[in-house]
Amino acid sequence: MTAERTSSPEHWNMIYGKYRREELGWYAPVLTTSLEWVLTHADGRDAGLVDIGGGSSTLVDELIARNFTSLTIVDISEAAIAEAKQRLAAQAGGAQFLCNDIRNPDLNLSPVQVWHDRAAFHFLQDGPEIESYLKHIESTLITGGIVILGVFSENAPPRCSGLLVNRYTLPKLKDVFSKGFELLDTKTEVHITPGKVEQEYIYTAWRKR
Ligand SMILES: C[S@@+](CC[C@H](N)C(=O)[O-])C[C@H]1O[C@@H](n2cnc3c(N)ncnc32)[C@H](O)[C@@H]1O
Repeated sequence: MTAERTSSPEHWNMIYGKYRREELGWYAPVLTTSLEWVLTHADGRDAGLVDIGGGSSTLVDELIARNFTSLTIVDISEAAIAEAKQRLAAQAGGAQFLCNDIRNPDLNLSPVQVWHDRAAFHFLQDGPEIESYLKHIESTLITGGIVILGVFSENAPPRCSGLLVNRYTLPKLKDVFSKGFELLDTKTEVHITPGKVEQEYIYTAWRKR
């Protein structure tokens, strides 16, 4: 697969159409750190949460099973959303699915207390795309709300899903989130892909001032 730089609905629909969920490089049966950190930082089960680039991940299943009542999954891929809805079946009504591009300036998300993103942020390019992402957080996350971010670290491969990504260190993330956020937690995590390749993620949690 040729490495491209730009994320597009066509690319992601092709990926989700071609591979089973369990074959995707980022697949994990449970997003353990994401789930633990949401449970640590969410202000109760009715705390609003948005999962950016949630794809077909099971974080939504885990949160519905724990009686979270206000969940929104945003993803650029209709195919990923269809997969998640089919898997959740009757429980799909417990979450709102929004097929949209996080780079779209007109998302108009409802206010939330938790903003979660595993492996979507690292596709954004420096400059306007990241600035626009921060504006979405600014307008969507309540004061005191939490950003939970899992991205490829400097030791991860340069590509994810065939697309070139930004790889992050803690100082680089601090550059992005320095204004208006307090760092609460950080850890690195080695994810083993279904093809047995190691990918190091850096997770950070930030509180919006
Ligand atoms: C590597 S996958 C991670 C999926 C999920 N977060 C997980 O950890 O299992 C990246 C996801 O982000 C979505 N995505 C990529 N670029 C996006 C964008 N600009 N706006 C919204 N979603 C996007 C893709 O469709 C895909 O589902």
